[in-house]
Amino acid sequence: MNDLALRTRRVIAIDGPAASGKSTTAAAVADRLGFAHLNSGLLYRAFAWRTLREGWDETAESYASRIAGVAIEFRTAPDGLQLYIDGESPGEALHGRDVAARVSAVASVACVRVAVFEQLRAAAGHLDLVCDGRDIGTTVFPGADLKIYLVADASERARRRLLDFGDGTDEEKVIEEAERLRRRDEADATRELSPLRKASDAIEIDTTSTSAPDVVDRILALAKQRGMPPRRGIDPRTPLDSNLR
Ligand code: CDP
Repeated sequence: MNDLALRTRRVIAIDGPAASGKSTTAAAVADRLGFAHLNSGLLYRAFAWRTLREGWDETAESYASRIAGVAIEFRTAPDGLQLYIDGESPGEALHGRDVAARVSAVASVACVRVAVFEQLRAAAGHLDLVCDGRDIGTTVFPGADLKIYLVADASERARRRLLDFGDGTDEEKVIEEAERLRRRDEADATRELSPLRKASDAIEIDTTSTSAPDVVDRILALAKQRGMPPRRGIDPRTPLDSNLR
């Protein structure tokens, strides 16, 4: 076996509740390290989108009989990995409110979790990864090289999500959105399989009043300590959307 075959791929796990900034942060960290970014939530959202579009019955039997017919893959695109479901890119539809309202129920179904788990583990077989989600550090990659757990105040998370939607951020809307996020977090944290939980060896970062570039810099410093230095020759501050997703 040569050196390349012996090389183990590196994984950084970023977990946390809804809209805590995982995806924006993971994308920027991956970019700076030259790793691929894998957003596991997108896979659950893709399944949820498909169940809504085809009106799947919400029973375990219905999911088990239909899931084998769903082909999900990540293809390499200039701005990272792009998700395809049966050859189609659902794009922004995955971030709509109907998908968000359905996704926690879909993510609690065992065969869906197995399908996502297999995709994520397969990717880690050939790519260095920054993977974000709910159970990445606890279940998917318990041996990850670095585990981060992002948190933020509920109203700040709600405000960010409203900005994502392009909606106003008046107080009433923030309260409503915070309640939607709270319900999803509760469903994710109390389900039987792989609940949302901070891994015992994860480092918690509160993003409520920390800027996105500062959160990224903190994670990069931790990555460097663990033998994952940033790529050379790139702008030390990746321009980031001020709105954390
Ligand atoms: O972006 P946001 O934080 O709102 O959510 P997401 O990362 O897109 O995840 C959407 C949903 O997928 C979550 O609410 C969970 O129900 C589920 N999920 C999961 O169960 N396990 C993961 N590793 C990632 C997401």
